[in-house]
Amino acid sequence: MEGKVVFTVFRHDPSAGARPRYVSYEVPYRSGMTVLDGLLYIKERIDHTLAIRYSCRMGICGSCGVKVNGLPRLACFTQVSELGRSIKVEPLPNHPLVRDLVTDFSTFFAKHKSVKPWLIRKDVEEQENPTGQYLQSDAELERYIQFSYCISCGLCYSACPVVTALPEFPGPQALAWLYRFYVDSRDHGGRERLEILDRATGIWRCHFAGSCSQVCPKGVDPALAIQLLRRALIRG
Ligand code: FES
Repeated sequence: MEGKVVFTVFRHDPSAGARPRYVSYEVPYRSGMTVLDGLLYIKERIDHTLAIRYSCRMGICGSCGVKVNGLPRLACFTQVSELGRSIKVEPLPNHPLVRDLVTDFSTFFAKHKSVKPWLIRKDVEEQENPTGQYLQSDAELERYIQFSYCISCGLCYSACPVVTALPEFPGPQALAWLYRFYVDSRDHGGRERLEILDRATGIWRCHFAGSCSQVCPKGVDPALAIQLLRRALIRG
């Protein structure tokens, strides 16, 4: 693939009062180019005012999520060669807009924190003065390992139609994290964890669209975690 790629980018500064618009930029293609590379070319060579967020450039930090040709994706993890010569880039839905392609993750991370994404232990003294290790078998690790691959990029949250319709819904990322700790053999959270999500705007509102699992760049399956949590709740 040679020549130029046209990036059509959403531009809007809510604090400036101007209307949202789409601006097209021509970017020279080079082999191995990612969507983030294209956006950085625009920012460095064409328009310095373009607001984007990124850090690691290698699919680890989860900060470069945007909507690419209609689907939530990591900009640094998406090859231009997969997309052709015309690429539309927009901010992630379900996260309030800050400016251009940058969105506010405050609510997302507040929901993440609400599910207590840490080990809850009853042996407080051992926590304060450790004397040993908490060993796990392969089978115990297998129960949660895929859910621990989450990088909190917010793509699943932006793809969730329930979050769109019901902003109080915790969202697939928070629920997958809750499950990750609920099934960890070292965790003593048990019923306390389940009660966090057994409410009117909680886990029962998921209607299993499955879009969360489709867009995850790390192969995590939040829709599965939600179904397994429902089973745990029903079994009591
Ligand atoms: S810049 Fe870190 S995941 Fe893309």
